[in-house]
Amino acid sequence: MVARFAVIAVLLGGCSVGAVETPGGGPDGGNNNGAATFTSMVSPLVTRCLGCHSGVQMPTLSSFNNLQAKYKAAPGTTNVLVTKGDHQGTTYFTPAEQTTIAAWIDSL
Ligand code: HEC
Repeated sequence: MVARFAVIAVLLGGCSVGAVETPGGGPDGGNNNGAATFTSMVSPLVTRCLGCHSGVQMPTLSSFNNLQAKYKAAPGTTNVLVTKGDHQGTTYFTPAEQTTIAAWIDSL
């Protein structure tokens, strides 16, 4: 229960865009919640990507630590992880999912 509450608290914190930003943070250098917010915000949206993106094919979406730095670089709205679009027969993120991914990148 405590762990679940912590995840929810982190998620809510990550949603108040800007409020939790630590100056000079960089990928997970600001609030150190990157791994937790990856699990809560990103993982649910990328399960269908893992067939191709959990090994050598970048981006590696299997975990926060495996995900390469370029996909954690703000601003989220222009990061290729948000802007890539349909490829290899895969329908990409919906606008709402893109907003979530962009907000996650900006929270790092
Ligand atoms: C059928 C396999 C396959 C699936 C499923 C797939 N991808 Fe890809 N992805 C690729 C391949 C191959 C490339 C490199 C060639 C290209 O861009 O088409 C790529 C490229 C990318 C890139 C560009 C990387 C860069 O640095 O330029 C991103 C971002 C990406 N994929 C994200 C995703 C996400 C997110 C999903 C799920 C919504 C997904 N992909 C689903 C195979 C796949």
